[in-house]
Amino acid sequence: MDIKSVRQDTKACEDKIFLNSAGSSLVPGVVLKTMVSYLEQEALTGGYALARSYENEVKEFYAEVATLLNCKAENIAFSGSATDAYSKAISAITFEAGDTILTTNDDYISNQLAFLSLKNRFGIDIIKASNLPDGDLDLPEFEWLVAEKKPKLVALTHIPTNSGLVQQAREVGDICKKYGAWYLLDACQSVGQMVVDVQQIGCDFLTATGRKFLRGPRGTGFLYVADRVLEKGLAPLIFDMQGAKWTGTDTFELAETAKRFEFWEFSYAGILGLAAAVKYINTIGIRDIAAYNEDLMRTFRKELAKVKGLRLHDQGTRLSNILTFTIDGKSIEEIEENLKRHQVYYSISYKDFTLPGLTGKNAGQVIRLSPHYFNTAEELEKVADILRF
Ligand SMILES: Cc1ncc(COP(=O)(O)O)c(C=O)c1O
Repeated sequence: MDIKSVRQDTKACEDKIFLNSAGSSLVPGVVLKTMVSYLEQEALTGGYALARSYENEVKEFYAEVATLLNCKAENIAFSGSATDAYSKAISAITFEAGDTILTTNDDYISNQLAFLSLKNRFGIDIIKASNLPDGDLDLPEFEWLVAEKKPKLVALTHIPTNSGLVQQAREVGDICKKYGAWYLLDACQSVGQMVVDVQQIGCDFLTATGRKFLRGPRGTGFLYVADRVLEKGLAPLIFDMQGAKWTGTDTFELAETAKRFEFWEFSYAGILGLAAAVKYINTIGIRDIAAYNEDLMRTFRKELAKVKGLRLHDQGTRLSNILTFTIDGKSIEEIEENLKRHQVYYSISYKDFTLPGLTGKNAGQVIRLSPHYFNTAEELEKVADILRF
């Protein structure tokens, strides 16, 4: 990977140390250019005529995402966010009282809220699989739960928002296949950061957002829908004329592709911007990006381990580009002030994101840093120095 040209393409990384790609990353120049150019033309012509002339460019979005995930363009639906994609996927499953969703303690807060809503409306059960002492999923127990409880849906967050953990998506996929459970993978923090291959993982649905490690615009995301889901005729509870054809007063025909999970209206500047971001990644190569990221994070964790009093809140045996920490004797506010003074971009997270509001002011708060492939080892060594204060 040519870091020099990556940084040249990311002008905004020059005057700061940007470590918040898990929040909302910096877009490469080509993404901004694509969107601004589209919006400028849209302002002159109105949306419809211009959209028609961009049909081929819009198609590129599906092809680029398919290349990244190792699937077909027909398996991809554009969405406004990861949560938008997630709620459409989940609405495709016909839950009845007594059905079970099996999930983990590390699943994203909004996903947990969706499960609670289903519980209240349909009377489903939610089971959370246990973790081993090192933070990894207890896979034998997980398999036992799938075999015994026969969950209708298994829902896994690949990389949780706050702990460095990478969950065993592929192993969970093997278990779901063996017992025939639908498998929904929240890959919001993993796509763009590491290789995510839907054939290897074996998920039925996968959700992602544009603005994080994909380095796309806000207000964008996508849903991957496996062939077997489409063939079984699953569709979101609510679809519109993009997702289905109205064939008679009381009849309709679902779109054959994952487009049945889209609505007719979406941001054309957004989809083109995300297409440019994914194409940018595909051109560099996700394998090279992932290898660079692994080296970078190994160096960073090693440097941070030398900072007196700094506690990393990493969990699990495989770690990601997200790390969270606290420093003994320093308040979160003091650390924030120090980072801000040195132009280091960060975010605040909760150690236990599942119950943040219930644990009191500042309880469980941690600083989250999430470098990406436009960052350098030198920058991260500098951050370790900044944290010695
Ligand atoms: C693991 C995970 N899943 C889902 C989401 C939600 O993504 P969006 O805000 O695009 O809906 C986030 C956002 O931080 C996340 O970290």
